[in-house]
Amino acid sequence: MENRSIEINEYLYVYTMGLEERSLCRLEQRMLFGQETDNLIKSTRMVEPSRSPFIKGRLSILYYGDSIEEIVKQVSQIELDNKTFKVVYIKINDLPKNQKIEFEDQRVIEKEVGWNIIGEAEMRNPDVLFGIIPFQGRWYFGSYLDSESVWLHHAKKPQEYSTALSTRLARAVVNIAAPDPAGVSIIDPCCGIGTVLVEALSMGVAINGADRNPLAVKGARENIAHFNYHGEVVVQDIAEQEGHYDIAIVDMPYNLYSSATVEEQYTIIKHARRIADRVVILTIEDMDEMILKAGFTIVDRCVANKGLNALFSRQVIVCE
Ligand SMILES: C[S@@+](CC[C@H](N)C(=O)[O-])C[C@H]1O[C@@H](n2cnc3c(N)ncnc32)[C@H](O)[C@@H]1O
Repeated sequence: MENRSIEINEYLYVYTMGLEERSLCRLEQRMLFGQETDNLIKSTRMVEPSRSPFIKGRLSILYYGDSIEEIVKQVSQIELDNKTFKVVYIKINDLPKNQKIEFEDQRVIEKEVGWNIIGEAEMRNPDVLFGIIPFQGRWYFGSYLDSESVWLHHAKKPQEYSTALSTRLARAVVNIAAPDPAGVSIIDPCCGIGTVLVEALSMGVAINGADRNPLAVKGARENIAHFNYHGEVVVQDIAEQEGHYDIAIVDMPYNLYSSATVEEQYTIIKHARRIADRVVILTIEDMDEMILKAGFTIVDRCVANKGLNALFSRQVIVCE
């Protein structure tokens, strides 16, 4: 048998999402991985699983094979250096019926693989967690990292307001805007109480915030400090922004709740074009005409619903 060990340079990302989030999740997948799926993405790109609100975990692929037997033969090569381990069968949502593996069979697979790993198994607190996943007719085995739902903590912040984005949407939007954030300059020029800022900063993404409303700025600063993140937020109208950024994330004020006129909306879009090369616009109204008039090209988009019974949905529009 050929040795099918791959030096860890391939990963399987396990996804889980609600139906109403599918369009948003897929846009984030296209930006992060250049592909889209409902349950698993295989990629050479390493992304922290906690970055995406839709990624459940990441398998760093060590071995693959056409059968469990092929995996079993390979796992005996693992050297654990006295570390304890556990093997889990990673459940995938929505597998077609003929590919479903029943609960009892999942436990059998875990045991069969685990027995062939030289070392001490530990069910509660293992030093190393291994995962095994069926994908496109093959089996994949490797170390498995669960995602932490960081954005859940951010949902309870000292300052709230009704037009704020959900933390999941804000987090996905940061990934859509800046799939490779290292060394990239980013601004949220209409930051409100800072939902986008908090998500970006929690991922180590450097971002500046501004809003023309001093109360919003105060709230954003308070929210950022509450989670012990550090970021600059200033009171400034987008028209007064002088710097230039690689990326801007603009959650548009809308007529439904705040009193943005069409002219004001167009002014914001025009200035966003002036201050950044790439802009992700969030809007509940159709603004394509304005966006194109401001000189943008729309490179991708999705619709993010607030929930299945949502009164309105937000469009997420990637413009360059
Ligand atoms: C929809 S809210 C942003 C909400 C924010 N994403 C959040 O989740 O907290 C739009 C914000 O744009 C701000 N705004 C409106 N016109 C602006 C302008 N010309 N320059 C800067 N900020 C502006 C408003 O004060 C408001 O806080």
